Amino acid sequence: MTTPLFDLSLGDAVPSDVDDVTALEDRAFPIPWKRAYFAAEVGEPFRYNRVVRDPRGALAGYLFCAFAAGEIHVHKIAVSEAWRRQGVAKLMMDDLFSFATGTGADVIYLEVRPSNAPAREFYRTLGFSEIGRRPRYYLDGEDALVLSAPIPAPRPA
Ligand SMILES: CC(C)(COP(=O)(O)OP(=O)(O)OC[C@H]1O[C@@H](n2cnc3c(N)ncnc32)[C@H](O)[C@@H]1OP(=O)(O)O)[C@@H](O)C(=O)NCCC(=O)NCCS
Repeated sequence: MTTPLFDLSLGDAVPSDVDDVTALEDRAFPIPWKRAYFAAEVGEPFRYNRVVRDPRGALAGYLFCAFAAGEIHVHKIAVSEAWRRQGVAKLMMDDLFSFATGTGADVIYLEVRPSNAPAREFYRTLGFSEIGRRPRYYLDGEDALVLSAPIPAPRPA
């Protein structure tokens, strides 16, 4: 039986999350960020770093973002293997869009590998579109596709 999404907790990443985040990162990405990088990002200003945990406390996913000058940049998003295709990434991105609306930002940017078909499909469902390509962006030489999505303006009070 799967645990319903409402049993998950979503909150700000804190230093004690970094070990679990790094472990999932190592499994989820061909060239993972190092632990020190996550440790340095947690608690920095102009960041929106979130984790999702299941009722037993296991890490279900994380989202690491930076924001400035009306833009949000998604640095990292990953969901643990056991939780994929159950809406966890969508939960985190919906939360990001809500946060973004509150900041007055108007666009979200991210990079994705052309070979990462699951992630590209995921972003497509959220309304992201391709706006460019960075040649040999990744350390193994693969290009990055640059995607963006507009952030809806807040509703007038
Ligand atoms: C990409 C990733 C974050 C998606 O997480 P997820 O929690 O499984 O995604 P969701 O369940 O919220 O999916 C929402 C929708 O996105 C699309 N989608 C997600 N994963 C997909 C896949 N593997 N194949 C096709 N479509 C997919 C579907 O439309 C899905 O809705 P549905 O399940 O009702 O069909 C996850 O596969 C992952 O962690 N991948 C490894 C890390 C990674 O590549 N991160 C992105 C780097 S740019």
